[in-house]
Amino acid sequence: MPDAPPTTPITTVAPDHRYDSSGQAPIELDQVKKAFGSFKVLDGISAAFTENAITTILGPSGTGKSVLLKHIVGLMEPDEGRVRIFGQDLWDMKEDERFEIRKRFGLLFQDGALFGSMNLYDNVAFPLRRHTSKSEADIRETVMHYLQQVGLENALDRVPSQISGGMKKRAGFARALVMQPEIIMCDEPDSGLDPVRTKLLCNLIKELHAEHGGTYVVITHNIEAARTLSDYVGVLWHGELVHFGPADEAFNSDEPFVRQFLAGSDEGPLGME
Ligand SMILES: Nc1ncnc2c1ncn2[C@@H]1O[C@H](COP(=O)(O)OP(=O)(O)OP(=O)(O)O)[C@@H](O)[C@H]1O
Ligand SMILES: [Mg+2]
Repeated sequence: MPDAPPTTPITTVAPDHRYDSSGQAPIELDQVKKAFGSFKVLDGISAAFTENAITTILGPSGTGKSVLLKHIVGLMEPDEGRVRIFGQDLWDMKEDERFEIRKRFGLLFQDGALFGSMNLYDNVAFPLRRHTSKSEADIRETVMHYLQQVGLENALDRVPSQISGGMKKRAGFARALVMQPEIIMCDEPDSGLDPVRTKLLCNLIKELHAEHGGTYVVITHNIEAARTLSDYVGVLWHGELVHFGPADEAFNSDEPFVRQFLAGSDEGPLGME
């Protein structure tokens, strides 16, 4: 089984009925603050993510990207500020309502976060069995569709220890997509992959986004991945978004840190801190 994704034809974003037509940003952060002890990780983050676009969040290690993601999915509560998903304040609702909103997210974690004891088929079927009352026949149709889209239809009997890192990420991506979520969050989908696999995975993410639509937030410190994927770019540094806006503006920014980071340069305000 070669570790290469399929060549799905790129189609334009489907005007999909699943998306809110209210014009409301799917994800809105309003002056979000989070500190651990005296260490301010998020120091007043405000951002509205664009519907149906891919936004990448870039920044050095330890800068708070994963913490930001946890705030968006409601796994961490801000010390101050608001997080609104489809206009609803995540922390102004009951726990079970927050749980319902989480079903509208697909999450792709760093290592795919697959269940080690389950084969790929059961891993991808898991959310459908857990959260829907679909019949096994319907589940099979959906699971096979997504496994085929990520090029793993011939590996469905394998358990995670029997597949490569790139295949794990693709299986994780299939599992993130299977509930047809409106928001997909990927935390460093490229980590641990060689440059070629990273490129192939980014192409796959872009193709499936073009086909299915959805609001994607991709966290990375890989500049090439950000160049391939981004419609919008957020650059996080010292607790603030030093850039948040269209990708071409980020890559042409005059802001010293943004310029240094996106150029991968050793000259600029970022050092070995
Ligand atoms: N639950 C926690 N308790 C205490 N400190 C935490 C907690 N979670 C994160 N931190 C700290 O917050 C900072 C930001 O962490 P985070 O994981 O968001 O970084 P990151 O930007 O995702 O880094 P990387 O690129 O290496 O994944 C780090 O200094 C980390 O140690
Ligand atoms: Mg992280």
